[in-house]
Amino acid sequence: MKFQAIIFDLDGVICFTDEYHYRAWKAMADEMGIPFDRTINNRLRGVSRMASLDIILEQYHGPALSDEKKAALAQQKNDLYRESLREMSTADLSQEVRETLDGLREMGLKLAIGSSSKNTPFILGQIGLKDFFDAVSDGNNITRSKPDPEVFLKAAAMLGIAPEHCLVVEDAVSGAEAGHAGGMKVACLGDAAQHQAGDWNMESIRELLSIVKA
Ligand code: BG6
Ligand code: MG
Repeated sequence: MKFQAIIFDLDGVICFTDEYHYRAWKAMADEMGIPFDRTINNRLRGVSRMASLDIILEQYHGPALSDEKKAALAQQKNDLYRESLREMSTADLSQEVRETLDGLREMGLKLAIGSSSKNTPFILGQIGLKDFFDAVSDGNNITRSKPDPEVFLKAAAMLGIAPEHCLVVEDAVSGAEAGHAGGMKVACLGDAAQHQAGDWNMESIRELLSIVKA
């Protein structure tokens, strides 16, 4: 087998919370009169909450915002985002993702999460994967978000597996860069796959089952 472990990004890979991130930022940006669209949103993938806000504020040309005001804007976005998360349930874990995870586990691979999100534990609970993964590295245990490799290197360390034996699965260009910076191979979906950012660029997460076998 090519790999000993797979490290999954969460938002946009395991579940479609990337859409909820977009809607919550969009509501905040609209209220502030800041132009924000899906193209800008793609730059927020994999990036921490405060770094995402800074990207959105590139289009803001009003009076200077204090750090307190910026923190309040990020909080406002997160409160709205969590309203969507509260509606999630095990029905938000697609059959395709579930079967792929089970198939990989049957092949003896270790499975981990490597996400920039501080909401990771809550989301995993909502979709019924609270105790599923062998390691969870997320926005709560890192100081640098993607494209820095910290979150993936910590996941590999938690698993006790060398980075070169890990495969990262990502929908973010910044996440693919983070995996490569950590010395890992990367399989991409969605926006990152469209940018050909991975060693494999997939249309469906099921393709992982053949990628790891080959
Ligand atoms: C990443 C998302 O998974 O988590 C980013 O791709 C998001 O868009 C980041 O900004 C931080 O998320 P949270 O839940 O901590 O605000
Ligand atoms: Mg993602």
